[in-house]
Amino acid sequence: MIENGLLADSHGRVMRDLRVSVTDRCNFRCLYCLPETEAALNFYRGRWANFSNPAPITRNWTSAEKILSFEEIERLVRLAAQLGIDKIRLTGGEPLLRQELEILVGKIARIPGIKDLAMTTNGFLFEKKAKALLDAGLQRVSFSLDSLQRETFQKITGRDGLNEVLRGIELAQQMGFAPVKVNAVIIRGVNDQEIESLAEFGRIHDLCFRFIEFMPLDSGRAWQKDLVVPAREILQKLEARFSLRRIESDNKSETATRWRFADGRGEIGIIAPVSEPFCGHCNRIRLMADGKIRTCLFSAAEHDFRTLLRDGSSDDVLQSELKSVVWQKEDRHHIGEPEFVPPPRTMSCIGG
Ligand code: 5AD
Ligand code: SF4
Repeated sequence: MIENGLLADSHGRVMRDLRVSVTDRCNFRCLYCLPETEAALNFYRGRWANFSNPAPITRNWTSAEKILSFEEIERLVRLAAQLGIDKIRLTGGEPLLRQELEILVGKIARIPGIKDLAMTTNGFLFEKKAKALLDAGLQRVSFSLDSLQRETFQKITGRDGLNEVLRGIELAQQMGFAPVKVNAVIIRGVNDQEIESLAEFGRIHDLCFRFIEFMPLDSGRAWQKDLVVPAREILQKLEARFSLRRIESDNKSETATRWRFADGRGEIGIIAPVSEPFCGHCNRIRLMADGKIRTCLFSAAEHDFRTLLRDGSSDDVLQSELKSVVWQKEDRHHIGEPEFVPPPRTMSCIGG
């Protein structure tokens, strides 16, 4: 291995970013993640005669005893931090469904070496939890917001929750979480007509607004290439409406290409995992709520750390297992290639 004290892989990448899914449960049913509502089924049925082939993933929430405790997560994060991980993002499912999440935030915030502690949420429960999370040491929050139209929002997420999410975003800004990022997954025929108005919302509210290509990670196995709106097309729409300037970044592991509005406030990011993969600089690994590590969103294999955490394994054993798992990280994903197989777990388990 190249650098012994770090989590390096065999392709020359060094891991810095650990995403920790704290629950696989969710209070939303997004079209692109858990398309289980009547509206979602109708959308896909109407579009694809062969919908449900391949069969949808049958999903059961993970039972409580199989979910890592806060102490178990803390221990793994501490060991990972000693090996160079400096950025933690809490994800779900919906992370705010995990009771007393602020306790975990506090534990992670105190771990030496963790410089950045963020959370990705759908925002529905954010208002209730914001103060406790900030006090515990959470630094940044990313929200999902795929539409500004109440009906489209409900069609996409399965929940009539637009106002709660908007209030959550505003509150996060007022409280000083910075920068507040907002993510929209764009699906052709669903919210692609809102690209410009979502960007305008970002500009007015001084947000970092990011458009994400739809990836094949939904539980319905309903993803089709035609539903992806490629980054190039998103950018064309935005450039027709706004004057944008490219932000050059030194951070090679950044997933988004970033743009500033010529007239000042706000920022646009475009994340193109499908049309312009950024695997070559990926420095991320993922810990799922059940204690499995995935080295790629699209990994076919998962590595069980829960057993090691519970069978009395020493810190040394855990760290050398982490190193060996990371060493095997896949070079890239194969979306769009003939042999591509979607992973056996959906985004709600993996956590984005
Ligand atoms: N494609 C792209 N992004 C997705 N997300 C969830 N499912 C998908 C998908 N199929 C993203 C959403 C959400 C975050 C948790 O993961 O942006 O904000
Ligand atoms: Fe939507 Fe996130 Fe819940 Fe998936 S986990 S259904 S993307 S809110």
